[in-house]
Amino acid sequence: METEVGGGLNRDLFGKNFKWGVSTAAYQIEGSHDKDGKGSSIWDTYTERKNKILNGHHGRIACDFYMRHQEDLALVKKLNIPNFRFSTSWSRILPEGTGTVNQKGIDFYNRIIDTCLENGTDPWLTLYHWDLPLALEKKGGWTNRDVISWFAEFTEICAKHFGDRVKHWMVMNEPMVFTGAGYFLGVHAPGRTGAKNFIPAVHHTVLSISEGGRILKDMLPAAEVGTTFSCSYIEPYTKRPKDVNAANRIDTLLNRMFIEPILGLGYPEKDLPFLKKIGRYMHPGDEDKMVFDFDFIGVQNYTREIVRNSFITPYVQASLVKARNRNVPYTSMGWEVFPESIYEMIRKFNAYKNIKKIYITENGAAFTDHLVDGAVDDVDRTNYIKDNLKQVLRARNEGLSAEGYFVWTLTDNFEWSEGYHPRFGLVHVDFETQQRTIKLSGHWYSGFLGGANDQAAPDLNCENSTLISSIASKS
Ligand code: GAL
Repeated sequence: METEVGGGLNRDLFGKNFKWGVSTAAYQIEGSHDKDGKGSSIWDTYTERKNKILNGHHGRIACDFYMRHQEDLALVKKLNIPNFRFSTSWSRILPEGTGTVNQKGIDFYNRIIDTCLENGTDPWLTLYHWDLPLALEKKGGWTNRDVISWFAEFTEICAKHFGDRVKHWMVMNEPMVFTGAGYFLGVHAPGRTGAKNFIPAVHHTVLSISEGGRILKDMLPAAEVGTTFSCSYIEPYTKRPKDVNAANRIDTLLNRMFIEPILGLGYPEKDLPFLKKIGRYMHPGDEDKMVFDFDFIGVQNYTREIVRNSFITPYVQASLVKARNRNVPYTSMGWEVFPESIYEMIRKFNAYKNIKKIYITENGAAFTDHLVDGAVDDVDRTNYIKDNLKQVLRARNEGLSAEGYFVWTLTDNFEWSEGYHPRFGLVHVDFETQQRTIKLSGHWYSGFLGGANDQAAPDLNCENSTLISSIASKS
C-alpha cells in the first residue's frame, strides 16, 4: 500500500534506510521526581523558584512516563514509529551525581529499552538533556572543570548497563540552549547569569561532549555515536552592513560556537570576539581534547531568526526581530513558521567537510489544540511537519546528508520555562487525567510511516480516521 500525502510526499521518496522517529526528554515527561531513590536535579529545584516557570508549572508529575511508559511505548508502536529517542536522568541513575548507583534507576531505563525492543522499536539514547544532578550544581555545575570527569563517570555507567542493547547514542542535547538559557540568561535551570558563568560552562561542555564521545566509542565500538545541536537559520533585518554583521555574530553564537571546536576548527572567535574570554579556561592540550570524530551529528531546527544591529545588547550587539512584529505566521512559542529553515540548516551542516552523517533529531511545532469529541484536528502541526519534510527531501534530492527525521515530540509535555502551555505532541495529554488522545498529526504520521512500509494499512482505530484520509487525499 502506498500513502500519498502532502502533494506527492511519501515515505519511499526518502529511501529504505532513512530513520523515522520521535524524540523525548527525561525531565519533560517522566515525573516521579523523587521516586525509587532518584536524587534532585537542577530542574527539580529551579521549578520551585518563584516566577521562573509560566503559571508555576513543574515536572514533578509531567506525563507520568515513569509509571506509564508501557502505555506510551505501545503508542509509539501503534503509530508505526520505528525509532524512539529518549534521555536518561543523571540523578535517577546517580542520585548524588557521582558515586553510588541507584539500581532502580538502571532498572527503569532497562525497562524502556527492553519494551522498545520487544515492540520492534529501536531505542536512541541521549545521555544528557539538561537535568544536571543538584549535588553537582552545588559544586559549580558546568562552570566547574571537574564536571568533565563527573560526566565521564555517568557516561561509563550508561554504556556499561545499556550498551548491549542500545545501538544509537547521543552524548548531549543542544548545548547552546542549556548553557545560554541556564548559565547566561538565567531563564532555564540553574538560573545563573552573565559571561562569568557562561564562558566556563561552554568550554567544559565542549570538553565533556568530546570526552563522552570517546568513552562511548571505546566501550561500544559497534554503536553509532553522535551528539545534537540546536540551530536557527539566521537572516539580517536589512542589507545594511550593520545588520549583516549583527546577523553573522548571532549565527556564530547560535550555530557555530559548539560544533566548530568539536570538528577541530577551534572557537569561532574571529566572528565573535567575546569568545576570546574562553582562553582563560583553556588548559594545555584542550585544543586536541575538544575534538571528536562523531559518527553523526543531530541537527535540531524549528525556525529562522531575523537579526538587527543593537548597540545596547552586551557581547553580541544584536537583537532578534520577533515574528509577531514581522507579519509572518508563528507558533505558540512565538517562532516563525519558515520550513526553508531546515533545508538551510542541513546545507550549512553539510558544508563542514568532516561531518560524516546528519540526522534531524528534532523538529516540530506548538500550536493551540482543541480537544473536541475525543479528537484534536491539529491541521497546523500536520502541515508544519509535512512542509518541513518536503524541505528535508529537497536537501536529500540535492545529495545532502539528512538520513533521519525525528518529530518533537510524542506527547504534549513540560516545555521548560513555558510550562505546559505550548503543546508539541503528536498525542494530546489531559494533564488532569493523564488521558492520551492521538491528534490528527499523530494519525497522519502513522499513516505516512505505515504506508511506505508495505505494511497493511495502519490500524488507526480512531475516532477520526475518515477525516484523516480525507485530509490526506486533499493535500
Ligand atoms: C528543543 C529541546 C526540547 C524541546 C524543544 C521544543 O530545543 O531540545 O527539549 O523543548 O526544543 O522547544
